Amino acid sequence: MKKIVMLVAMVAFLAVAAVAFSNPAAPSGDISMKCKKGVVTFSHKIHMEKAGISDCKTCHHKYKGEGEPQRCDTCHKEKKDKAPKIMTAAHKQCKGCHKKSKNKAAPTKCKECHKK
Ligand code: HEC
Ligand code: HEC
Ligand code: HEC
Ligand code: HEC
Repeated sequence: MKKIVMLVAMVAFLAVAAVAFSNPAAPSGDISMKCKKGVVTFSHKIHMEKAGISDCKTCHHKYKGEGEPQRCDTCHKEKKDKAPKIMTAAHKQCKGCHKKSKNKAAPTKCKECHKK
């Protein structure tokens, strides 16, 4: 019995490790998401290190693990395959997680994200 539990735990651990290591490295610099309301600066470094997100797919939801994930713009600005507008997508994903997070460093007010 104990052996089976151990084995299950090992397999689960390896599965998690495999996901972590199959991710390519995230861009190290900040990305400016330009919009009429004011530029939003997005940092992969802060999100991967301080927010503790390990899987690219948490945000790059269409990423299948081949090559590099695409910018959200690619589909959400072109409205490809009925992708909702970038504002809807960004607000839902970014603000959604920030609101749920207990981490007070995650901004939820307009001006904390949209800077001139
Ligand atoms: C917390 C959300 C989030 C996570 C996690 C995340 N990304 Fe991103 N990524 C973004 C956003 C937002 C952009 C900018 C998209 C845009 O402007 O359309 C982006 C852009 C990119 C770009 C395009 C950069 C450019 O300038 O063209 C690459 C490549 C990328 N991410 C790779 C990764 C990889 C690899 C991982 C996992 C190790 C990862 N991302 C994890 C949100 C995230
Ligand atoms: C390859 C195209 C593609 C890329 C790249 C992409 N999306 Fe999407 N996204 C879609 C499509 C299409 C939908 C519509 C629902 C579905 O098919 O999943 C969607 C739906 C969403 C939704 C759900 C919206 C709702 O109203 O429920 C969110 C949130 C979202 N995307 C955020 C993002 C973010 C943030 C990024 C970049 C980190 C991104 N997407 C990159 C195509 C894409
Ligand atoms: C899965 C959860 C999650 C998602 C999705 C997410 N964030 Fe965050 N974000 C966090 C957390 C947690 C922090 C606080 C990190 C810290 O401790 O500094 C944070 C911090 C930030 C900060 C403040 C730190 C800085 O970079 O100046 C900005 C701005 C930010 N996020 C923008 C965004 C944007 C824009 C998106 C969507 C494109 C996004 N975030 C998506 C969890 C998330
Ligand atoms: C967590 C960060 C965050 C917060 C908080 C936030 N936004 Fe945004 N917003 C974004 C991102 C990211 C985009 C998409 C930028 C892009 O076009 O690449 C966006 C897009 C927009 C757009 C679309 C502009 C255009 O060019 O189409 C408007 C308008 C907007 N936001 C208004 C607001 C208002 C009003 C609030 C406060 C009630 C707010 N946002 C709060 C991150 C945020």
